[in-house]
Formats: sequence, structure tokens, C-alpha cells
Amino acid sequence: MDQSALRQKLQASLLPHEIEMAWPLILEIQELKKQKNAVILGHNYMTPDVYHGVSDFTGDSLGLARKAAETRADIILFNGVHFMAETASIVNPHKKVLIADPQAGCSLAESITAVDVRRLKTEYPGVPVVTYVNCSAEVKAETDICCTSANAVAVVNSLPDPAVIFLPDAYLARNVARQTDKEIILWEKGKCMVHEQYLPGDIRAVRKQFQNLTVITHPECSPEVVAESDFSGSTSQMADFIAKSPAENIMLVTECSMGDNLRSLFPEKSFVSTCQTCPHMKKITLRKVRDALLHEQYEVKVAPEIQVKALRAVERMLELG
Ligand code: 13P
Ligand code: SF4
Repeated sequence: MDQSALRQKLQASLLPHEIEMAWPLILEIQELKKQKNAVILGHNYMTPDVYHGVSDFTGDSLGLARKAAETRADIILFNGVHFMAETASIVNPHKKVLIADPQAGCSLAESITAVDVRRLKTEYPGVPVVTYVNCSAEVKAETDICCTSANAVAVVNSLPDPAVIFLPDAYLARNVARQTDKEIILWEKGKCMVHEQYLPGDIRAVRKQFQNLTVITHPECSPEVVAESDFSGSTSQMADFIAKSPAENIMLVTECSMGDNLRSLFPEKSFVSTCQTCPHMKKITLRKVRDALLHEQYEVKVAPEIQVKALRAVERMLELG
């Protein structure tokens, strides 16, 4: 993208002085990318300077895992949270995968360990384990197949078994259970600290204020919140829905930066902002991105015996299409 087109994109969500402050770092990062043959993957929850300013590819967990698997770059800098960079390393064990802040975690990933999964497998012998990619490589290694919020129902239905253990997101598990005949055994402790904040009454209150409001939720919200919405899907499915929909007034029930980034992509639409911030995603700043490329830090590596097992579960998901 040429520099004036990029500035125009940034103008939709940043103030002029914010663009001026970000600009030298954006140029420096663009240059470092060329020098080091690096690709930058940016999750939809990155702030607009990181999302529009320096990403080669943007998207949801599924889309970015695919991009990570396909890339020919020598270095993958994953602007997102740790489990996402770890997934990139699982599918690309011989490449250098970096994250700008290794403390960028996830409340879902922190809710479960490989020991917990092994215990569940003993409790429900023979029942396959489906794990949402928001978990550690060790948990993925105990898994039959991974899923994301974009393909969770399809993944569950792809299994021949009448029951599945679905980990770790209890709300996503319940939302999937409403769309499949299979019995879903879930992990009650797994919640997204961002999406669990929303209550059904929040949506009803906003609907009273805005005529013709289209409400879009992420399936990490509770089923009661999802039931109040017009559409629920992964972060990229949200954007696709908006692109195809005539909706003019949109309430996004998800992380703050999603709305900021979509505002630049759909300037003709009006977004009602009721956002919640993910403190983990917000650890990734433009300055840390520059430092990550400059010093080639912080490398995300998975032990070979874990990587091999986790790869099977991730590849099985990617093969589903
Ligand atoms: P997506 O796969 O929908 O981008 O979700 C990832 C995530 O962490 C949402 O909270
Ligand atoms: Fe994890 Fe929720 Fe943050 Fe996504 S928004 S990274 S699920 S804590």
C-alpha cells in the first residue's frame, strides 16, 4: 500500500497527532521487514497503528494460522497473543517465530493444563478431545483436533462420535452445543475475561437507544448474550458479515480495537462502541513491534515432542478446509 493510502486508512481511527507519532516507527518497521525477510501477521484486535500500519496479513485465529503455515518468509512476527504465535511455531517449527511481548497471554489458555486434559480423558475414556486454539501447545498435544470460533461446529460435527470433550471455553462450548446433536462435555473454568463481561441486558439497553441496530457478538460471549444478537461469529466472520449486510448501525460485542479497525474498512457504517479491552492484546505496541524485529526477540519455540503431537491436532483442523 502506498504511503498516502495508508495515511488515509489510519485517519479513520487515529487523530492527526497520533498518526504523526506513529509514522516514524511505521516506516522503520517497514524497512526492517524488508531487511530481515520478515512477515507480520496482525490479529483483528491489534490497535489501528499496528493493524493497518505494519501488518502484511490481518485476520482471525484461523486465517492467521493458515497464513503462518503458508509463508516463505524467514521470520514470522505474530502481533497477537502468545497462543497464536505458538500455533504459528507449531505449523512452522523451522522458522523464527517472534512475539513482541511474551507476557501477552489469554485467560482461556491460562484456565487449563495438559494434566487437566489427561484427567478428563481418564474420566471419559474413548471420548475425543476438541480444543479451541486458545490454549497452550501442551494442551494441543493432548488433543484429537483443534478448532477456532470460525469452525467449531464444523469440527465437532466432523467427528463420528456421539459425544466430545470441548475445551477450554465453556461459553463457546455451550454455543456449539446449541448447533449440534452431539453431547458436549465442557470445562467450566474456561472463560474469556473480555467477552464474559457482557450481559444480555447490555444489548437490550443499547437497542432501546438506537433504531435498526444490528448486533454482532463473538461466540466467546455467553449463550444468553449470543441469543440477543443478529449474528455471531469469529472476528473475521464479523467483518465478512458486515461487508455483505445492508446494516448501517452496528453494535459490536467484542474487543475494542475490532470496532476501530472496522471503522476504517467501512467508513459508511456507524459503529456503536460498547467495547471491552483485552489487556493481553494491548501489550503489543508499535514500539515493541519495532524492538522485536530489530533485536529478533522474543522467540516462541515449542519442544519437539510437544510440537509433533500438537501439529497433528492443528493440521487435522486445517485439512477440514
Ligand atoms: P478469533 O479467532 O475470532 O479472531 O478470536 C480470537 C480471540 O482471542 C477472540 O477473543
Ligand atoms: Fe484471550 Fe479473550 Fe483476550 Fe481473546 S480477548 S486473547 S480470548 S482474553
